[in-house]
Amino acid sequence: MPVIRHPAFPVAPWAVRETELQLDRLAQTESLFALANGHFGLRANLDEGEPFGLPGTYLGGFYEIRPLPYPEGGYGYPEAGQAVVNVTNGKIVRLLVDDEPFDVRYGELRRHERELDLRAGVLRRNVEWVSPTGRAVRVSSTRLVSFSQRAVAAILYEVEPLDGEAPVVVQSELVANERLPSGDDDPRAAAALASPLRSELFVARHTSALLVHSTRASGLTMAAAMAHVIDGPPDTDVSAEGFEDLVRVAITASVAPGRRLRIVKFLAYGWSGQRSLPAIRDQVAAALSEARHTGWEGLLSQQRAYLDDFWDRADVEIDGDPELQQAVRFALFHVLQAGARAEQRAIAAKGLTGPGYDGHTFWDTETFVLPVLTYTAPRAARDALRWRHLTLDLARERARTLGLQGAAFPWRTIRGQESSGYWPAGTAAFHVNADIADAVSRYQAASGDEEFEREAGLELLVETARLWRSLGHLDTQGRFRIDGVTGPDEYSAIADNNVYTNLMAQRNLRAAADAAERHPDRPGVLAVSQDEVAAWRDAADAMFVPFDADLGVHPQAEGFTQHEVWNFETARPEQYPLLRHVPYFELYRKQVVKQADLVLAMHLRGDAFSAEEKARNFAYYERLTVRDSSLSATTQAVIAAEIGELDLAYDYFAEAALMDLNDLEHNTHDGVHIASLAGTWIAAVSGFGGLRDHDGHLSFAPRLPAALTRLTFRLSFRGRRLLVAVEPERATYSLLDGPPLEIAHFGRQMRVTRARPIALQIPALSPREPATQPPGRAPARRSRSQAQIVAHDPRDRPPEQTKPRSPAITLPADHGDRRSTDEDTAEAA
Ligand code: BGC
Repeated sequence: MPVIRHPAFPVAPWAVRETELQLDRLAQTESLFALANGHFGLRANLDEGEPFGLPGTYLGGFYEIRPLPYPEGGYGYPEAGQAVVNVTNGKIVRLLVDDEPFDVRYGELRRHERELDLRAGVLRRNVEWVSPTGRAVRVSSTRLVSFSQRAVAAILYEVEPLDGEAPVVVQSELVANERLPSGDDDPRAAAALASPLRSELFVARHTSALLVHSTRASGLTMAAAMAHVIDGPPDTDVSAEGFEDLVRVAITASVAPGRRLRIVKFLAYGWSGQRSLPAIRDQVAAALSEARHTGWEGLLSQQRAYLDDFWDRADVEIDGDPELQQAVRFALFHVLQAGARAEQRAIAAKGLTGPGYDGHTFWDTETFVLPVLTYTAPRAARDALRWRHLTLDLARERARTLGLQGAAFPWRTIRGQESSGYWPAGTAAFHVNADIADAVSRYQAASGDEEFEREAGLELLVETARLWRSLGHLDTQGRFRIDGVTGPDEYSAIADNNVYTNLMAQRNLRAAADAAERHPDRPGVLAVSQDEVAAWRDAADAMFVPFDADLGVHPQAEGFTQHEVWNFETARPEQYPLLRHVPYFELYRKQVVKQADLVLAMHLRGDAFSAEEKARNFAYYERLTVRDSSLSATTQAVIAAEIGELDLAYDYFAEAALMDLNDLEHNTHDGVHIASLAGTWIAAVSGFGGLRDHDGHLSFAPRLPAALTRLTFRLSFRGRRLLVAVEPERATYSLLDGPPLEIAHFGRQMRVTRARPIALQIPALSPREPATQPPGRAPARRSRSQAQIVAHDPRDRPPEQTKPRSPAITLPADHGDRRSTDEDTAEAA
């Protein structure tokens, strides 16, 4: 990983801002400043459309089918893949000043600023430009993708001549089938689809226009519509014209200096695979009407209110490192944008910020994104799981094709069909099924949402449990083995008894058995017999978890620790990521780990390892892990914190947090890494906050690294809001809403009530030998001076500190598992 020398953006607690335009970084900032709400997303392309890094407008779940050809095919290989479509671009607002097109590549750009405001939920742009013929103008725009009105985006666009009256033409457009720059050869990049949209209808009338298109193979229909509110001089002229792939509203005026031409552009997007063209057309027209009725100011205040509520439930405050404070809020904002209004569509690995990974969703969502949403925006977590449930028939069909029972969910997909053409790291990565089940169990435990359990959760658990029962078998020694699968580490494939997979399958089997017994009325519908439940429990109890007694560590999969260790000494820095420079064959037979695998098992199934095993395993796998996936640093942060390597955890936390802001993997241009961003929250809350939720109960073992003076976070749990504040010596638990809650602090059970917060000491750490990483692969050390960068901009108000309502009572730390006494709980009198 490159060393982080200075922050890429000025440090500010609630905004990410750029103050100069760097054309070579345009594609990266288009991803970083992208706006989305889970239903649709707009890359932060400049209003005038050019120059661009990569134009992008995406609809959640909207895709085209593309063939997956194989030089040597095989039974059960998916024949078609799915790829996200760059749909109709509604962002374009072109400007001509005195016959000169406004284009920052020509003339003089006197001032440029863009700001993503994380509380207002808008992207602002302020520019001063002098045309090649010497006309100076100020252009400003504010863009939002509404969280409240799911189909709606809006842009406030203002032009102000600075040196004399100027003739101004604004062309506001909807453009379909934009030409895209040709992609690179990175396997993680998207497949380019040329002209994926077929025109169905275009309408342009006065200040409004609409385009309807369909896809050829996937048979989906989409509509984009726009309407304008124009405030200009009395002679302002407006006209509209339309073509198959372009509709345009042109606004012409002669604007005096100090006066402004002010245009509000309302946009609406909709799509369907079932509804008719008139239905979709009318849907976007209705959405536009509502947006116009709400008005620009109304949309802004709805957006603010939505985000105030979100931050109230989700904010993480970090004292001692302003840059990471900014990064954590940026991360949470993007996680919200990826899922907030997805409403039963997949949440993709890049959200709706870019076409990377073809817009596919992976296990990333359930393992990294949903834990965050479960505790901060539970409805979004529920909807993502309901989407999985909607695809259950496809997963059942896939299981049948593979000769298995139950459901086999796809490794990567948009609609639900398997779209991975590389089965060793696709179909064979069966752990995705247990990851989905784990997310179901976590959501149910945290929400108590019985309706979800009855309607979707139970069936997801049952069908995934059936898969494990048929994929594994009891061997002659009575051990339940799951052979020939791929775990999270993609530098190993088709291995026997991957510890992560087996432990997650074990939890899946038990969760299904428990759920079936909780709903005696439902198993009949799902045809679950008592024998089947007993078989799941037997398999779980007999689950084989290999252990290398000679080394005293768990092999990632059976036999792993006997493989030759990869020669890290001779690997050159530019050979990373290894997947781009070394044949998989070579990686698969050596001990080299792309991303946390056994270490992830120690996080999610921490209940299955002793403290001593965790420390030994962590040290062993640290030496082998190269972090060629952005998913790894988070997990390494969590376990490093648990075993007491707090400064190392802090380095990993910073890496996860700055993955996109500092473009550490050099591919943020394709979209931000939603799982790594979500992982930033996980590293803070499960790492330094020590949150674990193994049995549906919350437990904490918080500890701060030396650089941080305080960490505060909030969790929603079964109708309550819990606030946890961690300081170097003590942690304070405050219940903000809801009935009393049982939690554990370093193993000690507590009851937190609304009456008063409880403060508990943090036990001292015993010193330990620091773990080492492969040469050149240690995370960048986060020095204190980096942590001390302060916000200089007076516009940045300091973050609001959360003060407990009444003074906390302080209790000593206790490792015992005793229940709290009535005194401890300080119940309200
Ligand atoms: C990782 C996978 C992940 C995918 C999408 C790959 O590089 O190895 O675990 O699901 O990226 O983020």
